[in-house]
Amino acid sequence: MGRPRVARRLRVFRDLEAASAVLASRIAAHARLAVRRRGRFVLVLSGGSTPQALYRRLARFGPRTFPWRATEVFFGDERCVGPRSAESNYAAARRALLAHVPVPARRVHRIEGERGARAARDYAERIGPIGSRSPPRFDLVLLGVGPDGHTASLFPGRPAMRERRRSVVPVPRAGCPPWVPRITLTLPALASAREVAFLVAGAEKATAVRDAWAARSSRTPPSGRVTARGRVDWYVDRAAASQVRPAARRTR
Ligand code: 6PG
Repeated sequence: MGRPRVARRLRVFRDLEAASAVLASRIAAHARLAVRRRGRFVLVLSGGSTPQALYRRLARFGPRTFPWRATEVFFGDERCVGPRSAESNYAAARRALLAHVPVPARRVHRIEGERGARAARDYAERIGPIGSRSPPRFDLVLLGVGPDGHTASLFPGRPAMRERRRSVVPVPRAGCPPWVPRITLTLPALASAREVAFLVAGAEKATAVRDAWAARSSRTPPSGRVTARGRVDWYVDRAAASQVRPAARRTR
């Protein structure tokens, strides 16, 4: 049976600020609709530096435009460091967003990276069942892309890429700085999202974006293998989209 075709869209913007502004509005609209339909909005935050401007923009949405009190926050991956470490994805998201919005503390699900591999099993239990027989677990997953095409802490050719059952796994050896072990959501976990949004900027990501959007092959990087129940949208600046064939682009 062939792979399910995923609705993918590549949206190209003049720069990261423009992409972040449109994506922030998209997230807020998705949150309002999710809460209207299901009473809550489950958001997965990405790590790295790219989404920081997006998070600061989201922090400016008040309760009338973003249902923060009905929002639940998870993380796509975490470094195996403490929650106050400069390398912690949680610390970065807290500084730019979570410390400024009224998401109830019990609904912010931090990956306890400082506990190492044991945190992976506990986080998978907190996420609960995933898979085609379960309802979508996440409403919207935010992801970044590394120059090698990795996403979350799913690095090319590493064992975590072959995981087909578990939702969260330890990554003993990182494939990029910081060179610390990681904990990451797996492809099956990402696939249990209603929607995935990649935010990518910079010429150093252009080859990775090109390969993710090329015809599927053994060279397709992890970011090109992400699927979702609904759609996978890429919000990309011109520099990162510079090597993608024009037919794939929808310039905004
Ligand atoms: C992490 C992220 C990782 C990140 C990419 C891009 O833990 O670092 O989950 O997947 O999104 O490496 O990072 P930048 O946004 O810093 O380029």
